[in-house]
Amino acid sequence: MKAVVTEEFGAAPVVTELPDREAGQGEILVRVRASSLNGFDVAVASGMAKGWMEHHFPVVLGRDFAGTVVGDGGGRFAAGDEVFGVVAKTELGLDGGFAELVAVPEAMGVARVPAGIDLATAGTLGVAGLAAIASVEAIEPSEGQSVLVSGATGGVGSFAVQLLAARGVRVIATAKPGAPADFVRGLGASDVVDYTTDLASQVRAIAPGGVDAVLHLAGDPQALADLVAAGGRLASTGGAGPDQFEGRDITATAVMGMPSEDALHALASLVADGSLRPAVSRTYQLDDVPLAFSQFTGLLGKAAVSVA
Ligand SMILES: NC(=O)c1ccc[n+]([C@@H]2O[C@H](COP(=O)([O-])OP(=O)(O)OC[C@H]3O[C@@H](n4cnc5c(N)ncnc54)[C@H](OP(=O)(O)O)[C@@H]3O)[C@@H](O)[C@H]2O)c1
Repeated sequence: MKAVVTEEFGAAPVVTELPDREAGQGEILVRVRASSLNGFDVAVASGMAKGWMEHHFPVVLGRDFAGTVVGDGGGRFAAGDEVFGVVAKTELGLDGGFAELVAVPEAMGVARVPAGIDLATAGTLGVAGLAAIASVEAIEPSEGQSVLVSGATGGVGSFAVQLLAARGVRVIATAKPGAPADFVRGLGASDVVDYTTDLASQVRAIAPGGVDAVLHLAGDPQALADLVAAGGRLASTGGAGPDQFEGRDITATAVMGMPSEDALHALASLVADGSLRPAVSRTYQLDDVPLAFSQFTGLLGKAAVSVA
């Protein structure tokens, strides 16, 4: 099978041929049709994930996947079923979404693709969509409250801005001027602040008493916490939890998007009923995924991957 791998810590992603994957005990085999690139994949390819998870090289990159079940689908799935999800393995190795075949645990990280969504769309949802939902749930904003989304232009941010706007929240989104600012406004942001200049004074001009909550998807969490009103909330996908904010009058949550079947269903339902859409700015063929890694910085929203 064709796959995009990193051969050692920090080695640039390359396209290679590997033996076809086979499903192990408790796993199903999926013929991948679509995936997408996430900040996590970039971290793995750069060697940054060395301390986070065990690596067995070559490591096939990509966490998101959507495709069809091949062969015996275990108990819950049948051959030909369309499924999507997140490769929920605790170690990095031969199973990744940037490959023609992936073996995934039957019990975690996989769900059926609902009617109304194609595989190309389903492949963009898992990692970023689940993290966005978990982030918004962690801060539980009410209608009319203000939420600063730091990292709004990225994969997680592009889902989170939509989810917040749908709740009637005043979304203050970070973006550089021009196309990035237009992009977040198009997703429902009420206000845009440029994170490359004085962020604090821009936010204070909009919310003089501080914002009700912050989503920390990028940037300095302490500087962002300074902008939260007393008694407010902060959710971080970057691992900033309560320990880092001791002495401050805010409730902080380090968010982890868990790919349970229920969470995947909830995410896909929002997309199927039209309340959420992946903001895909570019689709790469599997052969071009190494290029996608080099173009990731500055890319707006999601980079989709097509595995034809
Ligand atoms: N815990 C979890 O379950 C979970 C799940 C998914 C992701 N994550 C983490 O969440 C973070 C976001 O993930 P992602 O996939 O959305 O990454 P991403 O697509 O790279 O998005 C990050 C965005 O933040 C922007 N940015 C960079 N520096 C900034 C700053 N100082 N202030 C404001 N915005 C800034 C980037 O813009 P430029 O491109 O212009 O630099 C980019 O658009 C990553 O740290 C990722 O590892 C965690």
